[in-house]
Amino acid sequence: MAAALPNGAGRRVVFFPFPYQGHFNPLLRLAAALHAGGLAITVFHTNLRSPPDPADYPSDYRFVSVPVHVPMEVVASEDIARLVTELNVSCQEPFKQRLAALLSEPEGKAGGVRCVITDVIWYSAQAAARELGVPAMAFMTSSAASFRNFMVYPTLIDKGYLPVQEEHKDDPVDVLPPFRVRDLQRIETSSLADFATLLGHTVDGARQSRGLIINTFEGIEAVDLDKIREDMSIPVYAVGPLNKFTPPVKSSLYKLQQDRRCLDWLDTQAPGSVVYVSFGSLAAMDPHEFVELAWGLADSKRPFIWVIRPSLIRGFESGDLPDGFREEVGDRGRIVDWAPQDEVLAHPAVCAFLTHNGWNSTIEAISEGVPMISRPFLGDQYGNAMFACEVWRVGMEVQVENQLERGKIQASIEELMGNKEGMEVRERMKRLKDVAMKSIQESGSSHTSFLKLADHLLSF
Ligand code: UDX
Repeated sequence: MAAALPNGAGRRVVFFPFPYQGHFNPLLRLAAALHAGGLAITVFHTNLRSPPDPADYPSDYRFVSVPVHVPMEVVASEDIARLVTELNVSCQEPFKQRLAALLSEPEGKAGGVRCVITDVIWYSAQAAARELGVPAMAFMTSSAASFRNFMVYPTLIDKGYLPVQEEHKDDPVDVLPPFRVRDLQRIETSSLADFATLLGHTVDGARQSRGLIINTFEGIEAVDLDKIREDMSIPVYAVGPLNKFTPPVKSSLYKLQQDRRCLDWLDTQAPGSVVYVSFGSLAAMDPHEFVELAWGLADSKRPFIWVIRPSLIRGFESGDLPDGFREEVGDRGRIVDWAPQDEVLAHPAVCAFLTHNGWNSTIEAISEGVPMISRPFLGDQYGNAMFACEVWRVGMEVQVENQLERGKIQASIEELMGNKEGMEVRERMKRLKDVAMKSIQESGSSHTSFLKLADHLLSF
């Protein structure tokens, strides 16, 4: 959707995405939607990952590198809380300098900087923009429910819900229905207190911002959106699913080329026959799980596309498929490093998505009407999977005791594709897709919210 914006010509918005694929894509999608409406776009990016390739973007986008210095052992570790905190410390000054430099440029054709939109977890960049007197808005790349997890995190710890204790994992969380303890947001970190502090800074930053933008829609998250609005005295805009607003984002921050040959292969497959398997850009599994997954897919006897990106297997740069696997599946299975996920999910041959339930993958699946088989690994993925399987009931969770087992994977695929319950899940997903599509059509909730957002940032 490219809604024409009022008075949009020649105004510049600075975007600062966080350097993870699942954070980068939705922010750049919002940039594309605003650009289509007539705004000028500048993208600040860190040197942590490979820079966006300008060839993948409109020629009038500007890109500005913000150098950050974080010890390699922190980057390589799985301690995301520490990495995010150190990135915030490291980026604040260079971000401020580069923004100040931009502000001092004469107003050219593109006009002056109207506003900065950063990932909500770039709280130090939010502070730097405020210090320079530039209006800053915050963008939540995950769900509204996930932001509510952030808001109540100290209470979750005080009440003993976190860290998760095995014997209480199925207990309801009274301050955050419909979450059970096992659905709560959590990551591997050396210190839960540090993670809570980081989330505290994030929520404080959002409170001081000029508005919070979330890649979701009222049809799935009205309750959580209302609760955020009740609690925060800033405007909250639900503008998702952003992947349906604009053409696909091509850039991979990990220098991976999309393997587009899998689309040709999909063209040769029967409608509604293929399982798409991908666990996003961060999740890592043990080598044993990887082997079980391979045989689960082989035993399902269904055609599949499986994304095996570097580092999918914990401790290994690449994954060796088990002996005999390739011979067993032949041309029935396509393995790729990185898929054009939007286009794969939109392809009529695809019938199911075995996913980690990253928020982008979840909302992309909904917007294409592809039912999910959920295997969350970390962070918000537990809660997203719970909403997909228990609340919207458009997915089924793989039963996992400790690790994935081949029989459980095969059974989940069969259940979703074969039996009556699976058929009901597939039907519900079709209906939910319609709700998502209505939200971005004229007068739909996300369409209206997007126009209000554009009005808001042009009012600065
Ligand atoms: C993580 C969290 O899990 C997510 O909930 C949070 O919002 C952002 O950080 P990630 O693990 O990368 O994200 O998963 P996801 O949110 O699903 O994002 C992955 C993105 O990469 C999606 O936009 C997906 O379309 C894209 N992708 C993934 C590809 O384009 N090709 C692939 O092969 C795999």
